[in-house]
Amino acid sequence: MPVPTISWVNGNVKIIDQTKLPHKLKYMTCRDVKTLWKAIKNLSVRGAPALGVSAAFGVLLGIKPFKGNNVKIFIKHVHKTCDYIGTSRPTAVNLFNALDQMRAVLSRHSGRSVAELRKQLKKEAMSIYQQDRKVCRRMGDFGARLIKANSRIMTVCNAGALATADYGTALGVMYSAKKRKKKFKVYACETRPLLQGARLTTWELLRAKIDTTLICDNMAASLMKQRKIDAIFAGADRIAANGDAANKIGTYNLAVLAKYHKIPFYIVAPRSTFDMGIRSGKQIPIEQRGKEEVTSFGGRPTAPKDVKVYNPAFDVTDSKLITAIVTEEGIIRPPFSANIKKKFLPLRKS
Ligand code: MRU
Repeated sequence: MPVPTISWVNGNVKIIDQTKLPHKLKYMTCRDVKTLWKAIKNLSVRGAPALGVSAAFGVLLGIKPFKGNNVKIFIKHVHKTCDYIGTSRPTAVNLFNALDQMRAVLSRHSGRSVAELRKQLKKEAMSIYQQDRKVCRRMGDFGARLIKANSRIMTVCNAGALATADYGTALGVMYSAKKRKKKFKVYACETRPLLQGARLTTWELLRAKIDTTLICDNMAASLMKQRKIDAIFAGADRIAANGDAANKIGTYNLAVLAKYHKIPFYIVAPRSTFDMGIRSGKQIPIEQRGKEEVTSFGGRPTAPKDVKVYNPAFDVTDSKLITAIVTEEGIIRPPFSANIKKKFLPLRKS
């Protein structure tokens, strides 16, 4: 059973501090929205679906200290809180979709008292959380059909229970396949610079007793050339209406390599990761992160302090490199623009 990554406990947000893994399974409690914002920024909580749930819970933290019964001021306060949470990380659209859902509560219940709005916001946040738990299992069940007997699967970053409310997207597929007693093994790319693959994915998969081998990112091509990989499964942070998918930096490398070596490349992501307001991946905002993530390794410097650094946290895989996208509504295959549209109506305006 995967570990609960995030939960709402006694009016606070309890998360696993993922910066401490794999050395320590340490929980932290966020009692106010600022603490949660920082936890998002420094990747204590991370992964697109988990960021959606964090954003919803963040709104609940943000309204905790609000005093009084003035509805107009309360609504302003909720919007301000949503805007603030929206400044944490730009790429995962789940975060913005969840904030939109929380804002929509206000218009759906206009004319209600502050107490009633608080109640409805809590209900919405809990439903975003529960929905994520549910859809991960559905995606897992659909995706498991794509795993053939004795497959050797490659994955990147961490798209597991730690990246969602529980169970995961790409790793959820593996959990479901294991439940069905399928035999397979996994190659996890370490995922520089912050090593989500090495620190988090291998930790999760080993706990689930899945045959797992860790590789450095630059070993992927050689494994594919040796015909040792049968399929690649990755998560996504934002999928455009044409199927272009942003995910952890390095995912695009794997997709290009997969095409060359004729290996199926699958994205596993829920509806909340789709941004139907943007036509292509060109419009996806890519988070740029601090240089110290690249100039050090495990806290030790690995480069001169004054070297220039380029550190985008995500890249975009063109839909033409994607074999299929596994969602909770089923498996979407090309042509993606038409088939995504058939499945999902627009969620948000960009
Ligand atoms: O920077 P991170 O660790 O938040 O990046 C996460 C990823 O890229 C995941 O693969 C993605 O969010 C999908 S999670 C199910």
